[in-house]
Amino acid sequence: MDRDIDFLMSKKQAHQKITMLTCYDYPTALLEDKAGIDIIFVADSVGTNVLGYESATEVTMENMIHHLKAVRRGVTHAYLLVDMPYKSYDTPKIALENATTFLSHGADGVKLEGWSEKEEVIKILAENNIEVCAHIGYNPQIHSRAWTHGVTFSKAKALIQSALTLENAGAKMIVLEMVSEEVSKIITEKLSIPTIGIGAGKFCDGQVLVINDMLGITALDLRHAKKYQNYQNLTFQAICQYKEEVENGVFPNEASVVSMDEQKLARVEKWLKGSLS
Ligand code: KIV
Repeated sequence: MDRDIDFLMSKKQAHQKITMLTCYDYPTALLEDKAGIDIIFVADSVGTNVLGYESATEVTMENMIHHLKAVRRGVTHAYLLVDMPYKSYDTPKIALENATTFLSHGADGVKLEGWSEKEEVIKILAENNIEVCAHIGYNPQIHSRAWTHGVTFSKAKALIQSALTLENAGAKMIVLEMVSEEVSKIITEKLSIPTIGIGAGKFCDGQVLVINDMLGITALDLRHAKKYQNYQNLTFQAICQYKEEVENGVFPNEASVVSMDEQKLARVEKWLKGSLS
């Protein structure tokens, strides 16, 4: 790994933007790593984006380990971050056990959701030299609906206090999800650790997007997620064309098969008629 925590910190200090993308599989990991993404993130959104779950709360440790191992095989340079799934960090003891399991499967650090109430959990992980990314604002494992946080005085105060508390507890970076741009700017300026925004505006030290959203695999149109491709259309068109070509005998064609030598074929035909053993 070239992009360790010190490297990410130095990017913040040099005002160079940090790039982070979710990743759920080996071929995508190879591409993200080749493109020079700083943080490749095995997110629990694998549940809704890949596994067909209704909610992030259905994702298990086993699911995460399965995808972490696949992504690990494709990452050489990036920092490999993994999400702690729902209920896997309810107490400091459970969190330490599960985070240690992720590290043994190749994660460089773990991310967990929660505001200042997660202080003790982050403290114990940090004391055990586990690098933690905190995650405040909208927390999909906790909040049933997505909305922007930090538009009222009390929420702005709670977000800023939480960010400071979690940094103090030992967090090495923090995701700000759906946080007003003004509050994200204040937090970014106040913290010495990098802030990574999603739907939190341009002042964060870095940005994260969900790969399925930015590739247009996701059907939804999300305000915070720019679609850089429309893979849903491209994939659907390709599937329809394949179906049509198979049904019409266009595929496979001459170019996609290997033919048998005529003499050898003649021997097989003789054998079929019983005149050759
Ligand atoms: O699970 C997820 O996709 C996330 C986002 C913040 C990227 O946690």
